[in-house]
Amino acid sequence: MAPVGALRRNMPGRLRGALTRRTAAQSSAEPPLREEASHPVDQFHRWLADATRSGESEPTAMALATSDAQGSPNVRMVLLKQADSRGFVFYTNLGSPKASELAGRPKAALCFYWGRLGRQVRVSGKVEPVTDEEADAYFSKRPRLSQLGAWASKQSKPMRGYYDLEKACASFALRYPVGAVPRPPFWSGYRVVPDRIEFWLQKPFRRHERIVHVLENGEWRQQWLFP
Ligand SMILES: Cc1cc2nc3c(=O)[nH]c(=O)nc-3n(C[C@H](O)[C@H](O)[C@H](O)COP(=O)(O)O)c2cc1C
Repeated sequence: MAPVGALRRNMPGRLRGALTRRTAAQSSAEPPLREEASHPVDQFHRWLADATRSGESEPTAMALATSDAQGSPNVRMVLLKQADSRGFVFYTNLGSPKASELAGRPKAALCFYWGRLGRQVRVSGKVEPVTDEEADAYFSKRPRLSQLGAWASKQSKPMRGYYDLEKACASFALRYPVGAVPRPPFWSGYRVVPDRIEFWLQKPFRRHERIVHVLENGEWRQQWLFP
């Protein structure tokens, strides 16, 4: 796969200009997609910071796609809690359908959409559990009511009515009335270790910009894609 810089250098000037022009929706002083992009996770952080500044209500919300033993896809929203060169981390209930699916097929895809900026980021790769130390450190920083909520929820299991959840929250509040709430053994995190990260930037008249970064032999390579 050719590096983006080389592809761009071979383009006619008019097209080159079209690729660098920014729409009014972009608020950052930086060009949104960079020709000589550094690590794609750095690019992701620039976009996440732009999304946060733009006033997106849940800039860290991402769709998480997994698949079950029959290969049927499942998708739901989760919150990104950490992103670095090791991967993209979220936390959840280990008894949930998503956790069972990840146990059987440890691969996932993520999709962020920031409508105010007209930007999408897609990430895919293998999935690994975070360490107990990482999960403990994150859980200990959560608000107490969220910690009790994690104990109370048998995520995605049927309940007779909302009262079941309220009763469970009350009983865990009694079990842990004061002091630190320990992390439930059935609650932890996963890291999506990316081998593909795609940036999509909305442009007028469907001339959107797309650059995909693919990990090949330990190196990130970039490729323009038709929109
Ligand atoms: C914006 C948003 C953020 C969410 N964040 C999380 C999260 O970080 N972890 C989580 O387990 N569920 C989160 N949920 C709930 C999930 O979408 C889903 O309902 C739940 O995890 C059960 O999914 P499952 O049955 O596929 O395992 C979030 C929902 C929304 C709408």
